Amino acid sequence: MGANQDLATLLRARTPLLVVETAEEGRVIESFRHAIAQSLRPLYQWSITDGLRRLDLDDDEAEGLPDATLTLTAIKQRREPAVFLLLDFQPYLRYTMTLRLLREIVLRQDSAEHTLVLVGARIELPDDLAPMATRFELALPDAEALAKIVREEAFNYSREHGKRVEVDADSARAVVRNLRGLTVADARRIVRKLIYADGALGPGDLPELAKAKFALLDRENLLHFEYETARFTDVAGLARLKRWIAQREPAFLGRRMPVKLDPPKGILLLGVQGCGKSLAAKAVAGGFGVPLLRLDIGALYNKYHGETERNLRGALKSAELLAPCVLWLDEIEKALATAGNDDGVSRRVLGFLLTWMAERKAPVFLVATANDVQALPPELLRKGRFDEIFFVDLPDEATRAELARIHLAKRELDPAPFDLAAIAAASEGFSGAEIEQLVVAGLYAAAASRRALDTAHLIDEAHATRPLSVIMADRVEALRAWARERTVPAD
Ligand SMILES: Nc1ncnc2c1ncn2[C@@H]1O[C@H](COP(=O)(O)OP(=O)(O)OP(=O)(O)O)[C@@H](O)[C@H]1O
Ligand SMILES: [Mg+2]
Repeated sequence: MGANQDLATLLRARTPLLVVETAEEGRVIESFRHAIAQSLRPLYQWSITDGLRRLDLDDDEAEGLPDATLTLTAIKQRREPAVFLLLDFQPYLRYTMTLRLLREIVLRQDSAEHTLVLVGARIELPDDLAPMATRFELALPDAEALAKIVREEAFNYSREHGKRVEVDADSARAVVRNLRGLTVADARRIVRKLIYADGALGPGDLPELAKAKFALLDRENLLHFEYETARFTDVAGLARLKRWIAQREPAFLGRRMPVKLDPPKGILLLGVQGCGKSLAAKAVAGGFGVPLLRLDIGALYNKYHGETERNLRGALKSAELLAPCVLWLDEIEKALATAGNDDGVSRRVLGFLLTWMAERKAPVFLVATANDVQALPPELLRKGRFDEIFFVDLPDEATRAELARIHLAKRELDPAPFDLAAIAAASEGFSGAEIEQLVVAGLYAAAASRRALDTAHLIDEAHATRPLSVIMADRVEALRAWARERTVPAD
């Protein structure tokens, strides 16, 4: 138990003021009971309800009154050094008298070498106390402790329901692995929910676990859990990208392989609007079979002025705790190119992101998408940042036929009677989104004329549409020329 050892060291060193910020009071008390044995000092707990009470001896008698100031006065006068856990003390830190007494004890003015420990869910120290405090974090439970929680909750269930929990061994191992990063209380609550829902622990519990864990971790709402991932079979074209992902899946998921390969870190998808970048990002998560988290960098600036970096750090840490997962940064150029008067925040955010990308150890696969390359900071495009930069171009003729097939099928129409080649020929220069739109508009036209949708409807719609690539021909051509030199075609 690394952290308990640290705690013992802190106590042996007679650290004057410790702060433990946690909602898990019970665990704090347990940890101190263990650690105190080596420090040869008595251990006391104070709370507003019970006053001061000794913890290391079986002594139920409360000493003194619950009054905070009287208690501190008593502590100060005590000759024998001791350790005091002060529970929920935060409100008293506002009073001059209390603060003065605390300082005197901590500075050991006429006072023995006591250790005061402030324990609470959130503890903010006044400026003149903060530099004297040592913050201490409870260790999160390790795999062994988490496995024990799973066993205990399975046992509880079977005792209460008179029947065994059906446990699939692989899933149980995956559950334990995915509980990493949670506190004991949170892990127990989630495991309990999974087991009690159906008296079983199986593969179906893993997505539930990911959602529950996500809800606990993303307290700032910067990450969005995308419930809808996609499959690569829903994506037309992009053959090279699909192959690239398929080849790296085992390494990403940490499967054993004949040769040791570096796990992939992330890709950047650049390209023409409406050609499937966002869809492909979803399909990467679907292809890997892991949760998809979208990071809203725009909201990072808007919501938390001045706290941007802290919140970004928090969001990235949460993503790591949900690993393996795909972290999706959609339209990254909009978030990173906030030129001008933002006090260099977007620069620092970019720097932070790049460092994180290079150093992170957890399997978080980053998929960034962008369609305006001019606005992208050059650092992002430098070699070695992303594993690969893919260019998602307008679909070729074969892919357009595939697009028509996919989008007809998506609307429960049988593609067989349609002349897909003719539709593809009529939709030169159309993006995937525009071909999808042909199907939608065609369905309306067919409904209006009370006929079933056929090839002619789609071709008529195509002739009536001017695709973006024609309207903005210069921009699309410039983008392509730029991409030819710097990126790999996704198809
Ligand atoms: N390659 C494709 N395969 C299947 N459907 C596609 C494809 N490209 C586009 N679509 C359809 O068009 C919709 C819009 O595409 P998507 O949002 O992925 O484009 P995008 O490249 O992210 O565009 P933007 O640059 O505007 O964000 C998709 O939801 C999908 O229905
Ligand atoms: Mg998009």
